[in-house]
Amino acid sequence: MSTLVVYFSFNGNTKFIAEKIAETLNADVAELKISKKYPEQGFRKYFWGGKSVIFGETPTLTNEPIDLNRYETVIIGTPVWAGSFTPPIKSFISQYKIQGKRIAMFASHGGGGAKKCFAKLKKELPGNEFICEIDFVEPKKSLEENSSKAARWAKSLAIQ
Ligand SMILES: Cc1cc2nc3c(=O)[nH]c(=O)nc-3n(C[C@H](O)[C@H](O)[C@H](O)COP(=O)(O)O)c2cc1C
Repeated sequence: MSTLVVYFSFNGNTKFIAEKIAETLNADVAELKISKKYPEQGFRKYFWGGKSVIFGETPTLTNEPIDLNRYETVIIGTPVWAGSFTPPIKSFISQYKIQGKRIAMFASHGGGGAKKCFAKLKKELPGNEFICEIDFVEPKKSLEENSSKAARWAKSLAIQ
């Protein structure tokens, strides 16, 4: 079973989990990168990020093209922004034809919105099989606990 972990991370929490999952499954990993710059501090960060979600922005990805044909399973990771997934994930979904995949999802957040985020992602990905989802509350604040949680989840995916 070939697996791709594809994710966006603004402050490193989702990246931390993505790397643990990829390492556990020996999966390929693609960190989505964009040329657009979001403000990195304080209120402006939340304002611009939130606005970008609400307006359905699809910032241009600067990644090398990804050959999705190589993968049966795609694990998508995102921070929760304004109760949804992040704009670079929207770009990924718009740019690639994601069909007939087994899809698992994970999200990092500050305490709320993961369920809504997963529901919205599923809606954007018709024609795929959803196998599992998990969320993490600010995982970099409890590295060991969340690292084990991510590894356990990844192992459970491997046997599904
Ligand atoms: C623009 C913006 C919107 C956010 N909206 C939410 C939210 O709706 N619910 C929540 O629990 N956390 C929210 N957060 C917090 C992030 O989801 C959380 O800090 C996450 O762990 C960040 O992941 P990252 O380090 O991979 O970027 C938001 C953060 C930003 C920057």
